[in-house]
Amino acid sequence: MTCKTSTTLPSGKIMMMRPQFREELRTQCHREREAATGGAAAPVQMTEGWSRYYDAAKDGAPRETLLLALDLFESEGVAARAERLAVDLGCGEGRDTIELLRRGWRVLAIDAEREAIERLRARADLDSIAAARLETRMISFEEADWLPADLVNSSFALPFCPPDHFPALWKRIASSLRRGGRFSGHLFGDRDGWAQDPALSCHRRVEVEDMLQAFELERFDEIEEDGKTAVGEPKHWHLFHIVAKKL
Ligand SMILES: C[S@@+](CC[C@H](N)C(=O)[O-])C[C@H]1O[C@@H](n2cnc3c(N)ncnc32)[C@H](O)[C@@H]1O
Repeated sequence: MTCKTSTTLPSGKIMMMRPQFREELRTQCHREREAATGGAAAPVQMTEGWSRYYDAAKDGAPRETLLLALDLFESEGVAARAERLAVDLGCGEGRDTIELLRRGWRVLAIDAEREAIERLRARADLDSIAAARLETRMISFEEADWLPADLVNSSFALPFCPPDHFPALWKRIASSLRRGGRFSGHLFGDRDGWAQDPALSCHRRVEVEDMLQAFELERFDEIEEDGKTAVGEPKHWHLFHIVAKKL
């Protein structure tokens, strides 16, 4: 699916911060756009920290890709199984992790940023029963490993893996999933406005399709649209929204 819009978006690039934005639910593409942009300003420069992103995202709803994956599991009756493990890669302040816990999953939440883990652990909606099913790890994608999982979720985070580490990371994601397990999340396309940043992992559609060969595609939406930052800078978005089941 490709959406073109000239809607002015209320967020922007501030100093070294990467712009992402919360789009009002105004057009037929509104949900994809909101998800596509993370709903808030997201810094790429790790030295700048992710605080502004976490502040902006803290009341954000779980991602649609995650919700679809969870609904699909539940429609298969997997909800009844006791030992379901989800890995939330680049969990941030935990908008997806908290939904996984709410729906009864065990969750390994991984993020390189101490602040992300601290914010997740301090969430008011993380009760002690849910917390007992939560493991958190402050570690980079490059170093992280985990046990076989039913779901690997990564919302707006994998593109921040350094490109030279991305192939190994994707291999770990795919191989860690049990048969019938799912990946849900997002990737940046090669026409994204940030695609020339050598620190980011962006992919051509054919590359994403290749990565997903061992999966049945349950959602595979390619979103491409023009928007603006809050300071009026034009920004081109090119994203893939993915829910895929391991064959
Ligand atoms: C845009 S935020 C997304 C957070 C959350 N998944 C969401 O949808 O709101 C990206 C997250 O990925 C984390 N991240 C970025 N690069 C990382 C890396 N190399 N290893 C681990 N985490 C990383 C950041 O700390 C940040 O919390």
